[in-house]
Amino acid sequence: MSLDHAKIAAVVKEAYDKFSQAAGGENASYIPYLASVPSSLVGVTVVTKDGTVFECGDSNYEFALESISKVFSLALALEDVGAEEVHNKIGADPTGLPFNSVMALELHGGKPLSPLVNAGAMATVSLIKASNPEDRWSRILGMQSQLAGRQIALSEEINRSEQTTNFHNRAIAWLLYSAGTMYSDPMAACDVYTRQCSTLISSKDLAVMGATLAAGGINPLNKQRILKAENVPHILAAMTMEGLYDSSGDWAYTVGLPGKSGVGGGILAVAPGQLAIAGFSPPLDPIGNSVRGQLMVAFIAKELGLNLY
Ligand code: DON
Repeated sequence: MSLDHAKIAAVVKEAYDKFSQAAGGENASYIPYLASVPSSLVGVTVVTKDGTVFECGDSNYEFALESISKVFSLALALEDVGAEEVHNKIGADPTGLPFNSVMALELHGGKPLSPLVNAGAMATVSLIKASNPEDRWSRILGMQSQLAGRQIALSEEINRSEQTTNFHNRAIAWLLYSAGTMYSDPMAACDVYTRQCSTLISSKDLAVMGATLAAGGINPLNKQRILKAENVPHILAAMTMEGLYDSSGDWAYTVGLPGKSGVGGGILAVAPGQLAIAGFSPPLDPIGNSVRGQLMVAFIAKELGLNLY
């Protein structure tokens, strides 16, 4: 069943009107650049699987992709090495702990459990086929660009801000290496992971990327097949289990759609076979999820009756 376009347009506007001024949360500050982004920015976009775009607010403002990049590198790793190898080497379970937890790794013999926590994301990067780190980086950027249907670019400013402060992630990369769960040079994997977090996207881009997943791997704008259809359910399962970190269960319980957040303030939810919803606003809750983004996306999903369960 296809949703009525007038209804989607009205619901997107209502979500923006209701929640764009919502209080609470703070910009991420452990990455200096993110602390400097105006907290008042708010954008929301829906893209349907046939490529119709509905948007409100700062939907073309380009922000740091951050952890949402983990979804797209997972997609590339699945294309490269297949679902079984990703499952065996990374896992598909929630950690129940913060996204950069070292304890989660220690508790599971160095297996990251999910490609959507920092450890799992760096290990996922290391699985991507490449002849050298630059090649791996250009393939990741290529995947982000194909999913968005336009050339995505690295922000030198964000990348510098992250690369000069990512000591915790470097430690995680070495822990993976020592456990035998890092499959390339660990510092090269950490460097490429940090770059993939430092690209600039808008909520519109994000919704197109999500709509590609909703459409089973076909970009809704240019109709090109980007991902094998068989890989998409694995990506959505990973998002369901760990997309909003230690509140992924709460999100599944209340919203009922695979989601993914980033500390840049972006958040994405995918309604398979229908559409994707992307929100953006920098203030985060203590877990690292955009406060206004969650409210807008949850409202749209509810009003459009998209809960999968
Ligand atoms: O590695 C980091 O900590 C950041 N580059 C990304 C973390 C992130 O977005 C977590 N998301 N909510």
